[in-house]
Order: sequence, then structure tokens, then C-alpha cells
Amino acid sequence: MAGLLTVERLFDHPLPPEAARAYLADRRNVVFVAIAGGNGVGYLRATALLQPHTLRRQMFLYEIAVEAAKRRRGVGRSLVEALLSYCRRRKFDEVFVFTSPYNRAATRLYRSTGAVTETRADRMYVYLLRSGRPRTPRDTLSSNRG
Ligand SMILES: CC(C)(COP(=O)(O)OP(=O)(O)OC[C@H]1O[C@@H](n2cnc3c(N)ncnc32)[C@H](O)[C@@H]1OP(=O)(O)O)[C@@H](O)C(=O)NCCC(=O)NCCS
Repeated sequence: MAGLLTVERLFDHPLPPEAARAYLADRRNVVFVAIAGGNGVGYLRATALLQPHTLRRQMFLYEIAVEAAKRRRGVGRSLVEALLSYCRRRKFDEVFVFTSPYNRAATRLYRSTGAVTETRADRMYVYLLRSGRPRTPRDTLSSNRG
């Protein structure tokens, strides 16, 4: 909880303590906070998804943000890599994230850390962590829609 509060200012909304506590208590939710000089300078949060039709393990990277003054120093990359390591250790099949094709920083960050899309204009970026189907982001998208 303390870690999350150090980056509260980076969220679009305030974090009511009750909601934040409930969020953190749910083991499907994963939060990484980047600390520099004792201050929170970035965070990433993600949620493990269950699907009714497959046992493939998917992690949805819901949000990542780095304090404006601390960008382009590798913080975002470290956060993504921390999530990927976490997911590999726990044998997740894939991690996926949505972003706008116009968000240059985010699209480059995701591509440079190994995410793929089916076309350059896609909004969904997928990190395929384990071999086997599905092999393309489109398959993952279909899966998500059931
Ligand atoms: C996207 C974001 C998290 C990146 O964080 P960051 O700490 O600046 O990223 P890093 O320094 O680790 O950059 C890693 C790579 O991403 C790419 N990248 C990051 N910012 C970039 C930018 N402004 N322009 C182009 N490429 C960029 C580069 O390839 C970079 O590697 P390099 O510096 O060796 O060239 C940050 O820009 C941010 O918080 N943006 C606002 C919130 C947001 O848009 N979140 C994503 C929503 S889906």
C-alpha cells in the first residue's frame, strides 16, 4: 500500500484507501513501483485473466506511467521487464497491452521489449512468453472476446 501511495500523483484519479486496499488484496492484480532516490517515479499495474474457454494464462498490462521528468531513463523498460520476469516465473503464456498507435513512447517501449502486433496500426501488443497456440496477436484478441 505504501509503495502505491508514493506514485498516487501519477494516477488520473485519487486512490481512495478502501479501493486501493481491495485492489491490492486481490492476488490477480500485480503492481510494480519504480523508486529512485527514495521517491516513486513510475508504476505498472496488470491483472491476470481467467478465460472460460482456455487454460492459457494471460496477463493484461492495464497501465504504465513514468513521471514526466524521469522519462527516457529506462524506468518504463525496467517496469515492463519486471512484469515479464514475474510472468515467466509463474508460467504465464502471454502478456498483452493496448495502446494508441499514435502513442510513440508506448508503442516503441512495447516493441523494444519484445511485444508484437499483427499490423503496424494495431492497438494490441502481445508478448508471447511460451510456445504453442495462439501464435498471433489476432488469436489472442479472438480469445479475449470468447
Ligand atoms: C510510455 C512511458 C511509460 C515510457 O517510459 P520511459 O521510462 O520514458 O521509457 P524508457 O526510458 O524505459 O524507454 C524505453 C524505450 O521506449 C522507447 N521510448 C520511450 N519514450 C519514447 C519517446 N518519447 N519517443 C520515442 N521512443 C520512446 C525507446 O525505444 C526507449 O528506448 P531508448 O531510450 O533506449 O531509445 C512514458 O512515456 C509515460 O509514462 N507516458 C505517459 C503514460 C502512457 O502513455 N502510458 C502508456 C499507456 S498505454
